[in-house]
Amino acid sequence: MKSPTNYQHLPPGPKGQLIGLFKLNQINHPLHPLPALTLTCIILETMRLYPPVWAMPQTIATECKIGAYPVKRGHGLLACQWIVHRDARWFSNPDTFNPERWDNDLAKRLPSFAYFPFGGGTRVCVGKAFAMMETVSVLATIAQTYRFTLVSEQPIQPWASLTLRPQQPKL
Ligand code: HEM
Repeated sequence: MKSPTNYQHLPPGPKGQLIGLFKLNQINHPLHPLPALTLTCIILETMRLYPPVWAMPQTIATECKIGAYPVKRGHGLLACQWIVHRDARWFSNPDTFNPERWDNDLAKRLPSFAYFPFGGGTRVCVGKAFAMMETVSVLATIAQTYRFTLVSEQPIQPWASLTLRPQQPKL
């Protein structure tokens, strides 16, 4: 498995140029215009393929059927972002890192829980909006000066600990 090479999607860092907080979604460098591709798209796509919370244990509240499977009240199941986010019904070429797919409001067109890096329902992550703003800010700040490259071609193995992380982080 290859790591997302999202640095390829970013224009070269405009050194010394401060990107205003309200323009963080759009780095539009005159030499490398990528106006349609926003940092938000890059982050949404990264969390699609590499959801920081890769699965959430749930307790069934009401007896029902999920697909062909009857489930009883009190039973447990795993709502697994890692699997659901790679469903070809909602994401064409699901294993390909393609931030452009989030253009044209894909997020609004998806069925509920086709994409849920922050969970959903009554217990949805309370830090969701803050986390998105923070991640976009950090990526925009770093991208002004630095580009990430791998030190080797060694594939990065995801490690499914409580949160998803690389087994041997090497940048
Ligand atoms: C990329 C960053 C983050 C991800 C992917 C994430 C993901 C999640 C997920 C999947 C849940 C479980 C939701 C559910 O049960 O349906 C959750 C819950 C929660 N998150 Fe986050 N989170 C992030 C950042 C944050 C931040 C920055 C804060 C606080 C500032 C935060 C605070 C919380 C809290 C308090 C809950 C528990 C909500 C409840 O049970 O009522 N999270 N988060």
